[in-house]
Amino acid sequence: MVKPFRLSRIPRILFRNGAINDLPAIAESYGKNLVLVTGTRSFAASDRADHLRGQLIARGVEIYQVTVAGEPSPVLVDESVRQLKEAGISLVVSIGGGSVMDTGKAISAMLTTDGSVTEYLEVIGTREHSGTKVPFIAVPTTSGTGSEATRNAVISQVGKDGFKRSLRHDNFVPDLAIVDPGLTLNCPPEITAAAGMDCFTQLAEAYLSDKSGALTGALAVDGLRAVSRSLLRAFTDGDDIEARSDMSYAALMSGICLANAGLGAVHGLAGTIGALFGIPHGVACGTLMAPTNELNVRELRRMNNQETVLAKYASLGRIFADASEKNDSYYIDFFIDYLRAVTYRLNLPDLAFYGLHREDLSEIASNSDCKNNPVSLSEEQMLEILLKRI
Ligand SMILES: [Fe+2]
Repeated sequence: MVKPFRLSRIPRILFRNGAINDLPAIAESYGKNLVLVTGTRSFAASDRADHLRGQLIARGVEIYQVTVAGEPSPVLVDESVRQLKEAGISLVVSIGGGSVMDTGKAISAMLTTDGSVTEYLEVIGTREHSGTKVPFIAVPTTSGTGSEATRNAVISQVGKDGFKRSLRHDNFVPDLAIVDPGLTLNCPPEITAAAGMDCFTQLAEAYLSDKSGALTGALAVDGLRAVSRSLLRAFTDGDDIEARSDMSYAALMSGICLANAGLGAVHGLAGTIGALFGIPHGVACGTLMAPTNELNVRELRRMNNQETVLAKYASLGRIFADASEKNDSYYIDFFIDYLRAVTYRLNLPDLAFYGLHREDLSEIASNSDCKNNPVSLSEEQMLEILLKRI
């Protein structure tokens, strides 16, 4: 029998090499006042960006530029909204990585309401957002967060009292995701690695989550097959458009899956690490992926009646293994070995590389949750994971 499930909305999707060229006509159909959110390099500095701006201006579209230099901070969102509120904005378009997409998503939501974005964030906020927004189009230039398909914007304040919290509503799913794998060709290897591991983690965690059902399970497996074919290829040869296309697809699937099935302990830890120490999200996920899954498997094997989840781990191993006709145990061990090998091949730095010390780790472990992890981990076990990567 099919396990009951619900699917929150997904965006209209345009997935094609060169799809960015459709943006000017689409943007004009929304109106003449457009907020363009970009990062500081890669796309923003490219000929493509100049061409796009030229095309928009030729159609009489006025462009209000917002530039995201780091994490999507409350200050950046609030200040942008303050400046844009009276401009009669018809559309917000984000072209960039996860931070750029989340900033645009939050701006589009805050243009129609009052107060600071912080007041509407999960856990720390006191107000509930009504879900009204200005239309929003997401155009990813990295293959990672899947924000182009999710209903939340992660807002970050980095530092001692830092936080990473979501502005979330079903209506905040982008109205359109323009996924153009060609835009990721300029992505440097270290960002390809970090973003790719974020996407890999999201697919695996959503697949292993007990909220995963037939639909998200199928999408996650298909995304993971693309990761298996192409993560290392895209890292080794950034001009390999087939590999880039696979990773763009995998990231999109990861967004749909995580929005509907949730994430596990790696994301719990990575969220805290990002907020307190500003370590790039994909690096934190990538570096913790192997030890977290190793510990998950160890605990699942120790417990009774965990055959269903262990069978899922075996399925993950089958996606990445060349060998066939082995038993489940072989594929489970293979998956953990594969994660260790990928960590090495992608040169993912450990936590000490970013200046973390052993004495920082208890605070991270105690502040991190493992909500949809396939096994509930204690604070000591979370600490055990962190100690493997310091
Ligand atoms: Fe993530």
